[in-house]
Amino acid sequence: MAHIFFQLGSQSDLAREELYSVFHTEMEVLSGFAFSELPQQKVKKRFDELGGIIRAGIVLGEEKNFAGIQQSIIEHATQNAKNGKKMKIGIFIGSKQGWKKFGIGLQKAIKLASKGNEYEENKFSVRIVNRNAKNLDSYAVHKEKLLEKGNFEYVCIPLPTGWAWGISINIQKSFDFATRDMKKPVRDMNVGLMPPKLARIMINMTRDKNGNLPAKIYDPFCGMGTVLLEGMSLGVKIAGSDLSKKMVEATKKNTQWYFDSIEHLAISKEEKADKYIQWKKSPFFLRDIFIKDATKSFTLHQKKKIQKSAVVGEGFLGKIFHKPITTKQYEIQKEHLFPLYRQFLFQLSKENISSLVFAFPFWKGKNKTTYSFVAELLEFTNKIGLSPLRSPLRYIRDGQVVGREIVIFKKI
Ligand SMILES: C[S@@+](CC[C@H](N)C(=O)[O-])C[C@H]1O[C@@H](n2cnc3c(N)ncnc32)[C@H](O)[C@@H]1O
Repeated sequence: MAHIFFQLGSQSDLAREELYSVFHTEMEVLSGFAFSELPQQKVKKRFDELGGIIRAGIVLGEEKNFAGIQQSIIEHATQNAKNGKKMKIGIFIGSKQGWKKFGIGLQKAIKLASKGNEYEENKFSVRIVNRNAKNLDSYAVHKEKLLEKGNFEYVCIPLPTGWAWGISINIQKSFDFATRDMKKPVRDMNVGLMPPKLARIMINMTRDKNGNLPAKIYDPFCGMGTVLLEGMSLGVKIAGSDLSKKMVEATKKNTQWYFDSIEHLAISKEEKADKYIQWKKSPFFLRDIFIKDATKSFTLHQKKKIQKSAVVGEGFLGKIFHKPITTKQYEIQKEHLFPLYRQFLFQLSKENISSLVFAFPFWKGKNKTTYSFVAELLEFTNKIGLSPLRSPLRYIRDGQVVGREIVIFKKI
């Protein structure tokens, strides 16, 4: 067991819930980081499957003040420096004004220490790769090979009682998410595209109590296939449907493209080979992407395609707004969308599915108010055997009027 830290992404409540679904252990959350005792190998193995976590690493110590941290990091670097070989170091400061106040000093102190004492003892060769007094993004950490043997990214985390420090062992491969998002052949900005990391978080929320993923996921509002691409990247089978023929075609094109570019998978070579065999063996998934109105019942043929799947998706978001909405505008949205969701959930409640994680829209109003019909919807679903496991979690990006309210329904 190691004392592990996780740097939570911007939607920290969702990230925390995702960690719980994957590792099934309580975490202490402080300053945007979650802490827990976990086997390091398990964290390494599962990390690339996460959507909401930016970094994971091992906590190596705690100090009352930053001077103590600086001292500990210098000792660690000195001990780990290999004679002759240039060591690369990255510095991550987890506080807002961190770089000016602490980072620059730490950078200088490491440089100075690398020169050794007057007898040239403890001298080592180091390059600190941060530029412009800033933390590194995931691309830079990978490019500089900071997670490889002999190099380190030192992470300094402010705590209410002082500081913790440690080294990164994993960092999110943001470019893998970006590739799936930007390079897929069909994209349409007019259809509310779901952020791939959110899709990934939601899929992870369908894991069973041992942390295992479902065998198959089904998205009943598949749009351009964002959820399904994330499912594929995790190696699970997929099914999807949408009311619009155009969207079904788009999902088919996008999933086919991803299937053909299997090397994008964020997993090891051996696992890739396994998944490839598994996908090839399974009935070709394009057959499981079909046109369907989510408010209507499933035909026998469709039932077979979605049987025992975990259902993950986001529904129709309604009219797109660019400014906070008025009560009147909300009422019109609700009039259109509430019956759609109610009917959709009613149909789903009759099916043999393994779990359900769904994103419903909510909207920003004026003066920091928000509008949501999810509470009212849940009053209805409770009556038909779909109860939420916990209170809904909200996701909203800066500057957007529409957000998502994510509900994890109890295993059915
Ligand atoms: C917000 S998009 C889903 C986006 C998708 N998750 C993605 O990222 O590509 C909503 C989708 O719901 C579909 N839709 C709207 N009403 C529907 C209904 N009654 N049944 C099934 N799909 C519907 C639309 O065609 C649209 O593709």
